[in-house]
Amino acid sequence: MATIPSVKQFSDRVGRIEVSATMAVVAEAAKLKAEGADMVEFGAGEPHFPTPQHIKDAAIEAIQKNFTKYTPVPGILELRSAIVKRHAADFGSDYKPEEAVASTGGKLALFNAIQVLVDHGDEVIMPVPYWVSFKDIVEYAGGKCVYVDTDEAAGFQLTAAMVERKLTARTRAIILNSPNNPSGAVIAPEDFTAILKLAHQRGIYVIADECYVYLNFTGHNFSAGSVAEAREHTVIIGSLSKTYSMTGWRLGYSLAPVAVASAIAKLQSQNTSSTAHMIQKAAVVALNGPQECIARMKAEYIQLRDQILGELAKIPKITCAKPEGAFYVYPNVSAYFGRQGVNSAAEISRRLLHEAHVVTVPGEAFGTREHIRLSYATSPGDIKRGLERMRDWFAKLA
Ligand SMILES: Cc1ncc(COP(=O)(O)O)c(C=O)c1O
Repeated sequence: MATIPSVKQFSDRVGRIEVSATMAVVAEAAKLKAEGADMVEFGAGEPHFPTPQHIKDAAIEAIQKNFTKYTPVPGILELRSAIVKRHAADFGSDYKPEEAVASTGGKLALFNAIQVLVDHGDEVIMPVPYWVSFKDIVEYAGGKCVYVDTDEAAGFQLTAAMVERKLTARTRAIILNSPNNPSGAVIAPEDFTAILKLAHQRGIYVIADECYVYLNFTGHNFSAGSVAEAREHTVIIGSLSKTYSMTGWRLGYSLAPVAVASAIAKLQSQNTSSTAHMIQKAAVVALNGPQECIARMKAEYIQLRDQILGELAKIPKITCAKPEGAFYVYPNVSAYFGRQGVNSAAEISRRLLHEAHVVTVPGEAFGTREHIRLSYATSPGDIKRGLERMRDWFAKLA
């Protein structure tokens, strides 16, 4: 009998990536919840606030007025103008509407930017810990991730010198995310500026993921877009998801020199086309309307951060750098390695999920082995309950 030649089922491309670890944890937790478990969830990176009412009203009105059709791929002019106006007002940038492309979430904006800029064999520098999707999106494009280790004792700070040491002739781009998911670290504006300049001088792109740019607790909001002399090689990734508590609306954007923005729009014309019309109309209202909601949410995040740091401090041997932004803590749990067969953050996270019904994300997803990530975008009551459960669980392990 003739043998059937083995046929490859999937592309090499898709074989290079994994399901987003955060999404996987959320799915596993949902399964336990459906079975009746009382979960405390620190897994998903999403604000616990409802979307502000005036934004919801704008979307409803847009549907009623039949803004329900295809739009130009990079978004309606009204939205592209609102994006650049908001950015200029808040960060002193000078982008033009044709340099803004609205996408179905910041994740797609990032995906498009990386596919447009990175070729096979290109090196892309990123600090560790990194947001889970940076690595997979770069590898999907055929790029090679070059990691810059940061020091936990120094609050996971990234300096220009640390980046400079990793530059080679193959460096194509540097991905920076400040405030950082998962560590909450904020890159000092002087270092950020120095990195932008050294990249620009060498023709290297900086992709600045600014999804948490408004959740900066240092008192000095900083955007890469404010460094005009490097703008030719700067791509900003923005999102309304965290800023206005609009994760499910899927509205993100890129800001980039017109040639890059046009290439992003070209790629987007072959994947999703535009983001939904009524969502674009609501986004215009979010960006042009009252901004007090951001300050209100930020003030609450700062309180929640302080609460969760206080609760973590009650668990012996766990250390945690103080986050300066976003809404995550990234405690080091490695002091418990070697106890009862536990040898990794992944194992701790898995056992916390199943034994304590507390949802966390293991540090392996972000490039470090010794940490777990907790999102504190939740209620003070859940922080108390969840951290009590963790304290009991770690006490049994000790
Ligand atoms: C660092 C970072 N970038 C981008 C995103 C994507 O956000 P969205 O696609 O909801 O705009 C997230 C979401 O968690 C994130 O944490």
